[in-house]
Amino acid sequence: MSYTNIAFEIQDRLAILTFNRPKALNALNRALLEEFAQVLDHIEENEDIRVLVLTGSGNKAFVAGADITEINRLGPLGAKQFARRGLDAINRLTQLPIPVIAAVNGYALGGGTEMALACDFVYAAETAQFGLPEINLGIIPGFGGTQRLSRLIGPNMAREMIYTGKMINATEALRLGIVNKVSAPDQLMDDVLAIAAAIAQKGSTALRAAKQAINNGMNVDLASGLALENDAFALCLASSDAREGTSAFLEKRKPEFTGTLSDS
Ligand code: CAA
Repeated sequence: MSYTNIAFEIQDRLAILTFNRPKALNALNRALLEEFAQVLDHIEENEDIRVLVLTGSGNKAFVAGADITEINRLGPLGAKQFARRGLDAINRLTQLPIPVIAAVNGYALGGGTEMALACDFVYAAETAQFGLPEINLGIIPGFGGTQRLSRLIGPNMAREMIYTGKMINATEALRLGIVNKVSAPDQLMDDVLAIAAAIAQKGSTALRAAKQAINNGMNVDLASGLALENDAFALCLASSDAREGTSAFLEKRKPEFTGTLSDS
């Protein structure tokens, strides 16, 4: 399938989705979000894909936000629909069963930071800039920023970023826990693909169980989260990966995970 606003490729078991509107710094317009949803459908249907990597085309931006040309034309009803569409698309990253890594290679502003926040984790180039500058447009973040940023870095740091609309660089984003690792720009993709490949080697049942337990557990009290983990742990033991992983350890060999559920 070919896309206009997105480039999509599969390398071995890694999928790489590149936001591809470089002339608009990869801003998220309606057409791009529709294609994004189609790519996620494709990924969900393809069990061979183990990790998804998101990045932006060009060397200037990951995503510079929702498309301001489109926002400028909206009234409240249209705005609700527009934000709902973006939010639904971005929420699917957290619901996707496989890990998603953001490779932030430049500006990640507004919807760009919101996209990165919905990924499992973020690696950034030294040149990356994060921020929720919507306040400068007379609006607020509409793709989850007020909620996800506050939960990740705490409400006070999130308030300062959202009330001022200021940008922060990759080092500050690392300090705040928005970013896991900062790389030289020309090293970023290598670093991301290396960690993605290492994760892709793991058992897919366990990876899916871990992602679900973490994400669903974040939204409930500790006792409920621990109960979710308990169920997910038990489910792992129904997989051939658990047999293989534990047997390989005992037999002092490298495990070969296949990711299938077993009846035994
Ligand atoms: N929407 C539409 N077009 C955008 C855009 C956006 N979010 N960001 C950049 N562009 C376009 C610019 O209009 C410009 O187009 P033209 O060449 O046709 O004039 C092109 O991309 C290059 O941008 P600049 O000339 O502005 O580049 P710069 O290097 O001078 O500045 C920047 C870079 C600081 C990222 C600046 O482009 C900028 O501030 N962009 C807007 C960032 C922003 O406010 N994002 C939040 C959007 S609202 C949102 O995301 C709401 C939500 O949560 C749902």
